Amino acid sequence: MASKTILRALAGETQAVPPAWLMRQAGRYLPEYRATRAQAGDFLSLCYNPELAAEVTLQPIRRFGFDAAILFADILLVPQALGADLWFVTGEGPRLSTIDAQAHFDVLKPAAAVHDTLSPIYETVRILSRELPAETTLIGFAGAPWTVATYMIAGRGTPDQAPAHALRTGNPALFDALMERITEATIEYLSAQVDAGAEVVKLFDSWAGSLPADAFQQYAVAPARRIIAELKKRHPGLPIIAFPREAGPAYEGFAKATGADCVALDNSVDAEWAVAHVQKDGCVQGNLDPKLMVTGGQKLIDEAKRIKAAFAGGPHIFNLGHGITPDADPENVNVLLEAIRG
Ligand code: CP3
Repeated sequence: MASKTILRALAGETQAVPPAWLMRQAGRYLPEYRATRAQAGDFLSLCYNPELAAEVTLQPIRRFGFDAAILFADILLVPQALGADLWFVTGEGPRLSTIDAQAHFDVLKPAAAVHDTLSPIYETVRILSRELPAETTLIGFAGAPWTVATYMIAGRGTPDQAPAHALRTGNPALFDALMERITEATIEYLSAQVDAGAEVVKLFDSWAGSLPADAFQQYAVAPARRIIAELKKRHPGLPIIAFPREAGPAYEGFAKATGADCVALDNSVDAEWAVAHVQKDGCVQGNLDPKLMVTGGQKLIDEAKRIKAAFAGGPHIFNLGHGITPDADPENVNVLLEAIRG
C-alpha cells in the first residue's frame, strides 16, 4: 500500500485523520503569493515561469503542511495552447477569443501541438517533484472538456453558460468537434504532466451542474470516462479525481461510470447523502463551504469536525467544496487543520 496519505485515501483506505488540501490553496489570500505574482508581472506570466510557479505551489505547503500540492497553472492554458487568445482582466476574470462559427474552429491547432505552449508547465512539475517534501503528493490537473468549452465559446465566464448551451443545441456538429479537440488536448496535457512527475490528476468540471440529464451523460460523463481510460492505459495505476461540480443527484454513480478513483463534492452536497450514495463506491473529497474560511470562528471548527465525522467510515480527502477565496484569512487555515488533525 502506498505510504503518502492522499495516495492511501485514493487507494480506498479509511484513515483516522483524513489527508487535507484546499482548492486554490496557492492564491491571492496569501501575501507571499501576491508578492510572487507581482514579481512575475501578471497571472499568466506566473503560470509560464516554472521557477516562480513552483515557488507559489510550495508556499502553502511550507506555511500549512498540506498533504497535497496542486500544480500552479490554469484550466484556460489548454485553449491558449490550441491557439485561442487568452488574457485576464483584473477584477473581472478571463477573456478569450470566441468560438461560435466553423471558421473560428478551423484555425485551432491539433491536440498534439499543445506541448509547444505547455512545456513550461511540465518543467514546473519536474521542479516540484524534486522539491516537495517526501510526504506531500503532487496533483496535476486540467479542466474537463465541457467547462473548458464554455469559456472558449463565450470568450469569458458566464453565469449560466448560455452561449455554450446555444452552440450545443444549435450547432451540435461544431460543438462536438470542439469537445473532441479539447478532449484529445486534455489527454495530451495530463499525460505529459504525469510523465513529468504528477502523481495524481484532477479533472475540474466546474460547470457540469448546468448540463441537463441527457447532456450530462454525453458531455460530462462520456468525456471524463474517455480521458480517464486513456490516462490509465498510458499510466497504469494513476489515481484520478473527478470534480463534476454541482452535479447534484448525478454525483451518484459518477465514479463507476467514469472510472474515477475519487469524486470531489461541492458544498451543496449533504454529507449524509454523499456517504450513502457516493462514498459507498470509493473515495470522496470535500466539502466544507469556502465562506467559512472568511468568517472563521467556532462555526468553522464545528463544520470541519462535522464533515470529518460524517465521512470517517470510508476513504475521504478533506477539502473545500470550491476554491478558497481572496478574502479568506490565512489564519483560518491553521484553525481548520487544527480542527481536523487536532
Ligand atoms: O491552487 C490551485 O488550486 C491550483 C491552481 C489553479 C488555478 N486555477 C489558479 C488560478 C487551479 C486548479 C485553477 C482551476 C480553474 N481555473 C478552474 C476550475 C476550478 C474552479 O474554480 O471552478 C476555473 C474555472 C479556472 C478559470 C479561471 N482562472 C477563472 C474563472 C479565473 C478568474 C476568477 C478568479 O478566481 O480570479 C482564473 C484565475 C486564477 N486561476 C487565479 C488563480 C490563483 C487568480 C488569478 C490572480 O492571481 O489574479
